[in-house]
Amino acid sequence: MIKADYHNGEREMHEKDRIIEVFDTTLRDGEQTPGISFTGEQKRTIARQLDRLGVDIIEAGTPITSKEEKEVVQHICDEGLSAKICGLARVLPKDIDACIDCSVDMVHIFVPSSAIQREHTTRMSEEEVKERAYEMTRYVKEHGCICMFSAMDATRTGLDYLIELYKTAEEAGADILNVPDTVGVSEPFSMFKLVEAIHRAVKVPLSIHCHNDFGLAVANSLAAVKAGASEVQVAVNGLGERAGNADLVETVMGLNSIYGLKTNIKTGYLFETAKLIERFSGVQIPITKPIVGENAFSHESGIHAHGVLKRSDTFEPGIMTPEMVGHRRRIVLGKHTGRHSIEKKLSEIGMLPSKEELDEILERVKELGASGKRVTDDDLFTITEVVTGEVSRHERMVTLKELSVMTGNNLIPTASLKAMVRGKECTSAQMGVGPVDAALKAIQEIIGGEIGGGIELKDFRIEAISGGSDALAEVTVGVEKGGRIITARGVREDIVMASVEAFINAVNRLMQG
Ligand code: KIV
Ligand code: ZN
Repeated sequence: MIKADYHNGEREMHEKDRIIEVFDTTLRDGEQTPGISFTGEQKRTIARQLDRLGVDIIEAGTPITSKEEKEVVQHICDEGLSAKICGLARVLPKDIDACIDCSVDMVHIFVPSSAIQREHTTRMSEEEVKERAYEMTRYVKEHGCICMFSAMDATRTGLDYLIELYKTAEEAGADILNVPDTVGVSEPFSMFKLVEAIHRAVKVPLSIHCHNDFGLAVANSLAAVKAGASEVQVAVNGLGERAGNADLVETVMGLNSIYGLKTNIKTGYLFETAKLIERFSGVQIPITKPIVGENAFSHESGIHAHGVLKRSDTFEPGIMTPEMVGHRRRIVLGKHTGRHSIEKKLSEIGMLPSKEELDEILERVKELGASGKRVTDDDLFTITEVVTGEVSRHERMVTLKELSVMTGNNLIPTASLKAMVRGKECTSAQMGVGPVDAALKAIQEIIGGEIGGGIELKDFRIEAISGGSDALAEVTVGVEKGGRIITARGVREDIVMASVEAFINAVNRLMQG
């Protein structure tokens, strides 16, 4: 494996052999997202997941900020991960010492370089910035760490001075120079020119750190790589200050599938990594988010679904598939649905309506979709049973008998649940992070015990149908077994009941096929 070597400054590689390093800053810049704070345990779990994913460097935090932050960075360093661990520091010995105390592999030092930031934040002259950059780079190197130097707000810094500053850090022994687009004002053409100019002026590898204020962070990062940068700084789900950082998944897949460049990322883990960060950060992934959003590989309209059922690259990029990123393709039902989608879903459970019946089913599915409702698989099967007059040949395998939940400010939410499974009465009591979680864990335990494992809750969505505290809660779930997903709905005034109902409806349909 060819890797950019920090220590001999060797970076000239043939384009086809270039391995672009992935520097993940989810735990540092990502945690600077307003309103986000990971627990120490979550940070360690994230670090392990990033390592499993194959990121080259994990920026674990800024140890000087607090005792707790320092402890977490230290713990991450002690995990024995393959990724290098980096700590962030201002150009101050005490910040760098805090990183070194944690035993980081790399110290990332930064100093504002643009006139606006120098004049209004640090009040340092250009000369002072250069001196400090030189001294602190030396300081890091004397302590035996890899040194990354960042000229903060590089994209708003005069080019001649910026190059002088980077050369100064290089002369002092910096192993890698980072070019931050701190306030996200660059665009791909200017980014290309800037990185190209810096790349010509220095010998050490360049890293790129883009913010997403104009939605261009990923495009700018790709342009920087095209211009010679050998490392991208990214955050999972694009977390970070303000509009965030370049998204890890999009940047990696852009490099991989559009540029044909290699990274050390095991792309099959991208989806699960995005989901983990969604859960820990509480920031929901939009359904339209590229690559990991619920709709990224979903098809509804008749023409698209028909095409994709025949050959997936008719209406997907082809150079990137759901399998490559650990996601899955879905044919969803709605007002644009065509007959091929319906025929396919019905044939999977052995339902073969006549042509006239199919026309009627299609009409009703489209009507339901047009009313603004999500059309689940369970809806389709119910419509089909009504239209064909053929009530399911299978009994409902699971029925709910009793459910009670306890929750409160001094209680761990607990659910007790009784259900009939294949005629046998089963009970379970479970705790969860909330009453819905506890109740779903209880029903999953019963089903796992009676029907067998491998049934997994994949999607869960709650919507209030009407306003007010007595609103009807509509819960839609996706439940998977052996790669097949069935969607179903539950509608109740009680959110816990609606959730369990939706889950049971999906399981019953899944067992029908
Ligand atoms: O956006 C930025 O400039 C930063 C630096 C610390 C690199 O996050
Ligand atoms: Zn940043």
